[in-house]
Amino acid sequence: MKNKVTLLDLQKKKKEKIPIVMVTAYDYPSAKLADEAGVDMILVGDSLGMVVLGYDSTIQVTVDDMVHHTKAVTRGVEHAFVVADLPFLTVHLGVESTLKAAGRLMQEGLAHGVKVEGGSEVAPQVKACVQAGIPVVGHLGLLPQSVHQLGGYRVQAKELASAQKLLKDAKALEEAGACAIVLECVPGLLATLVSETLTIPTIGIGAGAGCDGQVLVYHDLLQYAAKLAPKFVKAYADVGTVIRDAIAAYAREVRDRSFPGPEHTFSLDESVLAALREAEGLQ
Ligand code: KIV
Repeated sequence: MKNKVTLLDLQKKKKEKIPIVMVTAYDYPSAKLADEAGVDMILVGDSLGMVVLGYDSTIQVTVDDMVHHTKAVTRGVEHAFVVADLPFLTVHLGVESTLKAAGRLMQEGLAHGVKVEGGSEVAPQVKACVQAGIPVVGHLGLLPQSVHQLGGYRVQAKELASAQKLLKDAKALEEAGACAIVLECVPGLLATLVSETLTIPTIGIGAGAGCDGQVLVYHDLLQYAAKLAPKFVKAYADVGTVIRDAIAAYAREVRDRSFPGPEHTFSLDESVLAALREAEGLQ
């Protein structure tokens, strides 16, 4: 049995300046492979709406979707700290709605913590979760659940006022008890300043190298049929091409009857076949 990553381990990594590695996963195989690769944290992101369910945004993702996918992920994980996203509106409907959804992700999904998009306006909900024993990861910068309000997936907090607000929000989340904060699509220098200011770890995605950790979406880093290719993504493999080529080869072999071969086929004694033909009056 592998050691399980705890909040204390993550805090220690921040203190010792050891980068935290987080990746998203949405089902048993993706979680198992990420866990076996030794990542510290797995995020069951509501990005599953886009990369797994084919939606144009994360807005259609429901609590039921999140619970379903979180259950599959946690079945595949022995080591990593698993965080599940609270989907669209759950948090903004108030403390009760937040606690209900977070409770389901922990009790049914077996997540170790939840992630919440938003700043000081969601601090009461963060505080309520933490008081209930639910670790909360904050999420600032580009908030995909607010994509229509933001006018698209673009870099955030480039001006003084918005940079000041982001720093203030980060402090409010820390004060409310968040155990880490995801910083998405913010200038590197700002993310570094936030990381230096906070005592909890920051996990960057499109936020430069100055964060305490990094997160990427599974399908982006593997080039696994992801729709968007943001500037900040580095592809470490092209599994989309591997999968497409493999399925095309299978289709060719089915069509030319070279698959299945004798090695994929169960044998039957000739005498049994002969007896069957005779019994059934077949040639
Ligand atoms: O849903 C998600 O995958 C996320 C990451 C982009 C951080 O929130």
